[in-house]
Amino acid sequence: MTSRLASLLGNLVEATATPYPVDRYLEFVNPMLTWRETRAKVVGRELQTNRTVTLTLAPTRQWKGHTAGQYVEVSTVVDGVRHRRFFSPANAAQSHTAIELTVTAHDDGFISQHLREHVAVGDVLGLGEATGQFVLPAERPERTILVSGGSGITPVISMLRTLATEGHRQPVTLVHYARTAEDVPYAAELAALADAHDNIDVHLHYTRTTDRSHFIAAHLDGLVDADGAQVFLCGPPTLMSAVSADLADRGLSARLHSEAFTIDTAPVIDPNQPITGTLTYSTTETTSENDGRTILEQAEAAGLQPEYGCRMGICFSCTAVRKSGCTRNILTGELDSETDQQIQICVNAPVGDVDIEL
Ligand SMILES: Cc1cc2nc3c(=O)[nH]c(=O)nc-3n(C[C@H](O)[C@H](O)[C@H](O)COP(=O)(O)OP(=O)(O)OC[C@H]3O[C@@H](n4cnc5c(N)ncnc54)[C@H](O)[C@@H]3O)c2cc1C
Ligand code: FES
Repeated sequence: MTSRLASLLGNLVEATATPYPVDRYLEFVNPMLTWRETRAKVVGRELQTNRTVTLTLAPTRQWKGHTAGQYVEVSTVVDGVRHRRFFSPANAAQSHTAIELTVTAHDDGFISQHLREHVAVGDVLGLGEATGQFVLPAERPERTILVSGGSGITPVISMLRTLATEGHRQPVTLVHYARTAEDVPYAAELAALADAHDNIDVHLHYTRTTDRSHFIAAHLDGLVDADGAQVFLCGPPTLMSAVSADLADRGLSARLHSEAFTIDTAPVIDPNQPITGTLTYSTTETTSENDGRTILEQAEAAGLQPEYGCRMGICFSCTAVRKSGCTRNILTGELDSETDQQIQICVNAPVGDVDIEL
């Protein structure tokens, strides 16, 4: 059947299956039987460290694979509510039939804890398409420097595995920061890769052992400044800013490619623009005094539970209508006061009085 015919047939089935999309009916028969949606069954579960879980997923036929470094939206239903988060497949890009996610459970992290503690082999998760610009270039670098911290190891290990699988012969160095040796997922595989390949080096630094080896510029000497080096960075905000500043000091910022899993949403305090105003959540008839944080954080502090996914302006799960007032986008600094506009409440902070439809 051609894809055009399949699509026409799908539209016809969907039209007759109203009020719900056809996938809503199919999931009663078998959640892995889908017309449009991509889903994935958990076929493997491993606790590599005390804070992580590695889930191997078998996706439905719609999955198109990923490029090393990209991320996917994963959704799961907890107490009747669907939650969305993003994870970077850790497997090599050559595998199109399985996806490996390594999730670090944050102490107060709702979904990361759920995935570690409650998701079991046989469970089915929702899956988005792989996306993101943090990828290995098609023309592989002459020298690849991968720098990661904590959960940020996932996209870079996908890059490392991809290069190893394709028989890449040019130098690749992974510099990884973890709390302790026991907190490094894939530790045995990393050692084996470095042993088996002359061109692969792995440098591990531990930040919570007696030598407290936090990032210092010397860790990258001879690596990032080598001819043809390209640097791929993913980790906590402190590591990201220290490495970015180091590359800027060396005049090598153009070599840096990076991805953050979280952003700093602390209010920017400007003495000429004091934080004032009242946030009105009109749907729930709730108010709170503006404290300068994002609308999402202030709404949560006021006891509301708005939907969100990435908390950093990627996914649009958190949009709500700003009925009136002015907001500042914390990523771009832009001010906007058009009435009745959909805004992403995770990256917008009120400037004065704001009425938001929450
Ligand atoms: C592009 C992208 C790729 C990602 N890939 C991975 C991955 O491969 N593996 C992985 O473990 N995680 C990854 N993440 C992070 C993941 O999506 C979730 O943000 C994380 O699991 C926390 O979700 P939660 O529901 O447990 O926390 P929530 O309940 O949503 O938040 C609880 C608290 O933790 C804070 N928090 C949220 N996210 C983080 C974070 N990343 N670091 C520190 N504090 C945080 C929140 O501000 C809040 O205070 C990725 C995120 C993005 C944007
Ligand atoms: S939660 Fe993803 S854009 Fe706001």
